[in-house]
Amino acid sequence: MSFSERILTWYAKHKRALPWRETKNPYVIWLSEIILQQTRVEQGMPYFFKFLENYPNVTKFAEAEEPEILRLWQGLGYYSRARNMHKASKQVLDRHKGEFPTDYQSLLALPGVGEYTAAAISSFSSNQGYAVLDGNVFRVLSRYFGIDEPINSSSGKKLFSKLAQEMLDQDHPGEYNQAIMDFGALQCKPKSPNCEECVMRLDCKAYEEGLVDKLPVKLKGKKSRDRYFHYFIIEKEGSILMSQRSEGDVWANLFEFPMIESDRELNVAELVQLEEYRINFGENVPKMIKGQVKHILSHQNIFARFYSLDMDNGELAKKSFWNYFLLEKLDTLAKHKLISSFVEHYF
Ligand code: ADE
Repeated sequence: MSFSERILTWYAKHKRALPWRETKNPYVIWLSEIILQQTRVEQGMPYFFKFLENYPNVTKFAEAEEPEILRLWQGLGYYSRARNMHKASKQVLDRHKGEFPTDYQSLLALPGVGEYTAAAISSFSSNQGYAVLDGNVFRVLSRYFGIDEPINSSSGKKLFSKLAQEMLDQDHPGEYNQAIMDFGALQCKPKSPNCEECVMRLDCKAYEEGLVDKLPVKLKGKKSRDRYFHYFIIEKEGSILMSQRSEGDVWANLFEFPMIESDRELNVAELVQLEEYRINFGENVPKMIKGQVKHILSHQNIFARFYSLDMDNGELAKKSFWNYFLLEKLDTLAKHKLISSFVEHYF
């Protein structure tokens, strides 16, 4: 049996029943694929249903307001995915008369759709012969063929991309793409794969040479940056002061509490001496209500502290992007995870 035949045979026995596998509708597949980027199936599933319920077709998605989409996306992270989806849905209305495209090149032209997503949507929806290449596929191929070329080098990407395309089952590209991803996720797992019960074992180079836990090879990325965020809870007559983040940094446009950032850990005495603190809050002294919360993003470690701040000792100097919201409206604002988790426990 060929490589693809064995993958397909394995899949027939082990495939996961997932709701987006029951459809050929490119809009629904697109929704699922964008949600599942950098997100586990169990975590993504409720969002998939929520989005489908609120926006049953691409026209409804395009007509939605961005803050509403961000609010629904809350908790998933990588919010640029949601913003790109909104742009993409509008593009589908403008350029494709609301008919979600299925061909690879048109898909690739949509914001937020890269080679992986275009291959996934075109093969799942209309069986076009494009191989998907995600973390699962990199792992399966590098182990099976014993390739130690780094998967994130440009030569590695080229090599694996060519190999993935060669291995694709041309008669069943959609089924094969699902199959190799499931094989990677369930059988050829990153840690402790069950090689003793693997159908590919006898031809697997990594298994033969004892290299399963060494492959795939990945070059180390750049080091993460540490950032320290000090958040201030400032309430006034049933309202709370909220700040909207700007573009060009993490969590663009999302809401949070007014904050000061430092590049090292500060205690309260050091914090109140900062010029930025004195300008906005004067002589008022913050009270720490939640100690350090660590939030890890792809290239940053964020250490957050939360303080309550009563402004009874002089006026507040408000920044232009700080605004009061009624406490009962707090729930309707799109907030990033650090803030929504805090709100859940504090209010
Ligand atoms: N992760 C990304 N796409 C997926 C899919 N179609 N099925 C299961 N997991 C996935």
